[in-house]
Amino acid sequence: MVSRFTLLASLILLASVPLALAHKGATGVVKERMDLMKRQKDDMKVIGLMAKGRTPFDAGKAAEAARDIEITAKNIHELFPEGTLGHPSEAKAAIWTKWDTFTDDADALGASAKALAAALDNGAPDWKTDFQAVTDACKTCHKSFRAKK
Ligand code: HEC
Repeated sequence: MVSRFTLLASLILLASVPLALAHKGATGVVKERMDLMKRQKDDMKVIGLMAKGRTPFDAGKAAEAARDIEITAKNIHELFPEGTLGHPSEAKAAIWTKWDTFTDDADALGASAKALAAALDNGAPDWKTDFQAVTDACKTCHKSFRAKK
């Protein structure tokens, strides 16, 4: 006998399959930028877990992750050639009508990540404020230029 719970669980599982598969269709430059964003997400996770005290604080490791974001942020410009949108991409057309804002947002991310790395290198006690600024830089760009799922 199938319990209500099992039924519900399998429905949820089914519903999440298309999302999981959606990005698998990505190729070329779209796949490259998704991989870049995922890498930045992983970097953010390393620092975020330390910020929340869930992993031991390691300034060197955190600074390394911040520098990885700083470096990869420089590649964002070239990974968005005009018109590369539509499924499976979540890129909005506004990227190319507001290109200066988009590239400013990418530069702002690089600058905030650089500041965070410096704060960590210098043992600044308020490094979490700099971390928040990096989080905000991700969000600012996503709000304008990434379609909601
Ligand atoms: C300059 C704009 C911009 C900045 C800054 C930015 N993103 Fe993104 N991000 C995008 C866009 C646009 C997409 C959608 C790309 C696509 O689907 O083609 C995206 C997609 C993503 C995705 C989904 C990738 C996938 O597999 O579909 C993740 C995760 C992500 N970003 C994380 C981050 C994190 C973490 C940061 C900050 C460290 C960040 N992004 C900063 C514009 C930006």
